[in-house]
Amino acid sequence: MKNRYILLSLIPCWLVYKEEERHDRVREVSPSEAQKQKLLKELGNRWLPYLTPKDTEFHQLWQENYSKLILREASSIPELLHKEVQQAFLILRKHGCLFQDLVRIKGKNLLTPVSRLLIGNPGYTYKYLNSRLFTVPWPMEGSNIKYSKDEIFAACRAFFKLNDYLRKDTIQALDKLHLIKSKDSEDSAVFGMVPELSKNILNVGHDMELKKRTTYNLTLLNYMDPQEMSYLKEEPYFGMGKMAVSWHHDENLVERSTVAVYSYNCEGPEVLDDDELSPEGRNPAVWHVGLKIAWDIKTPGLAVPLHQGDCYLMLDNLNSTHQHCVLAGLQPRFSSTHRVAECSAGTLDYIFKQCHLALQNVKDDTEPRTVHLRSMESSVIKQGEEIHNEVEFEWLRQFWFHGHRYKKCTDWWQLPMSELEGLWKKMECVTNAVLDEIRKERWPMEQKNEIITDLLALLTTRQELRMEWCMRCQSRIAQNLPEDQRPICWPYWEDEDPEMPLPFDLSNIISELQGHLPETKS
Ligand SMILES: *[C@@H]1O[C@H](CO)[C@@H](O)[C@H](O)[C@H]1NC(C)=O
Ligand SMILES: *[C@@H]1O[C@H](CO)[C@@H](O)[C@H](O)[C@H]1NC(C)=O
Ligand SMILES: *[C@@H]1O[C@H](CO)[C@@H](O)[C@H](O)[C@H]1NC(C)=O
Repeated sequence: MKNRYILLSLIPCWLVYKEEERHDRVREVSPSEAQKQKLLKELGNRWLPYLTPKDTEFHQLWQENYSKLILREASSIPELLHKEVQQAFLILRKHGCLFQDLVRIKGKNLLTPVSRLLIGNPGYTYKYLNSRLFTVPWPMEGSNIKYSKDEIFAACRAFFKLNDYLRKDTIQALDKLHLIKSKDSEDSAVFGMVPELSKNILNVGHDMELKKRTTYNLTLLNYMDPQEMSYLKEEPYFGMGKMAVSWHHDENLVERSTVAVYSYNCEGPEVLDDDELSPEGRNPAVWHVGLKIAWDIKTPGLAVPLHQGDCYLMLDNLNSTHQHCVLAGLQPRFSSTHRVAECSAGTLDYIFKQCHLALQNVKDDTEPRTVHLRSMESSVIKQGEEIHNEVEFEWLRQFWFHGHRYKKCTDWWQLPMSELEGLWKKMECVTNAVLDEIRKERWPMEQKNEIITDLLALLTTRQELRMEWCMRCQSRIAQNLPEDQRPICWPYWEDEDPEMPLPFDLSNIISELQGHLPETKS
């Protein structure tokens, strides 16, 4: 049981998420568990073969079966960029900006051993394991962001520069891959959408597609010191040794988009690059990225050593055909993983639009607490209450669950979050107004029942989620976090609060609504 806890907490967010999905959803949807068991059974006690640069066929295998993994050795990257980026990692660690996340897996609260920080476009978020991370904004052109320290500004700027560098580099890599493909065969199905930038044959569709796959809008920074970890899982199929991150596909990204990773092992024990240490297999002192073809035991795996400042790109559909893992070395290691996040419902712009949509049902009012509704149409009411739940549970409570951690770097989120809170408060008044209307006799039975049915479902969800968030905030593990990271159960109010038209605890209202429904009346 203990091991299971540790094991789960060591695998990366997106992988654990998959694990969770596997259990929560219908099994047929995700046959990978069964496939995995079958694979392990077939394997028996033998390891599958894998290659490292020590093996003569290493480069051939890479070219033939792993060509969409591109390694950029540190020496090919400008010295100044290395300096800025590496300094940026150390600055962020020094100022305590990287945090272990308190995630929720199968009803359990777990602290991830990897410390993380999300940096990216202002107002963007990235959600994993029921936790929404909010970007510390990087200084884009035209943005006017205040940082708590000049050094933190410099760090964010460094990752913005790195992002731009990696974006251009990715376009080149895609371009090159296309040239290779078109020489080999007219395999346009595989990569026909990527244009040759060098030739002036861009058309708008190609250009947009390329942009969509390379315009990284955020980077998730990771940090782990293996020496501080009491337990790291062993790689199970090839015997590749200790893993920092288990085999996984990436999730929550735009389809076929690239993930670009900058890898930095900082101070720590001197790395012996001596092959005598490990005459066979990979050097356990050196960090590696491992690759395998998903559910294939014929093609050998690949372990690519990552030296200080090396980058790798995972292009196109590599993610769906292959799995990757991160094999731990001895030194502490940072990585910056640049992604095209698919979170069409994950930006501040989006949620503000939603809120304004919901509040279109409010007549311009004079008094702050009484609102007058434009429509009692059930679809309108339902939409409003859905958005009410969305802003409360996907934004406000998610944000305050992280305590004051974002303030460490910037006050950027303060204003939009208080604006969202104001809009949400108005939605509390809307719910109250809907309830008042329902209590009146004048609505046709059918319409009334329809509204009550929808409302009951949404208020029940609201009640359940409020209780769940309260419990998450009150868990021992949450309460033991350092003061500035300790979850805050917010919004919260007492029954007598004159600002709030409805109670925090909705159980009485839910019972009242149940009493209104004809089925439950008898
Ligand atoms: C690996 O590459 C070889 C040579 O191109 C090819 O024949 C084989 O099908 C590939 N294996 C897989 C699983 O794609
Ligand atoms: C990130 O950028 C891509 C491509 O421009 C876009 O499709 C995606 O929606 C963006 N992500 C967010 C969170 O807006
Ligand atoms: C990565 O591959 C997995 C498995 O094929 C797939 O479920 C997932 O959606 C892919 N992610 C992206 C970002 O394409």
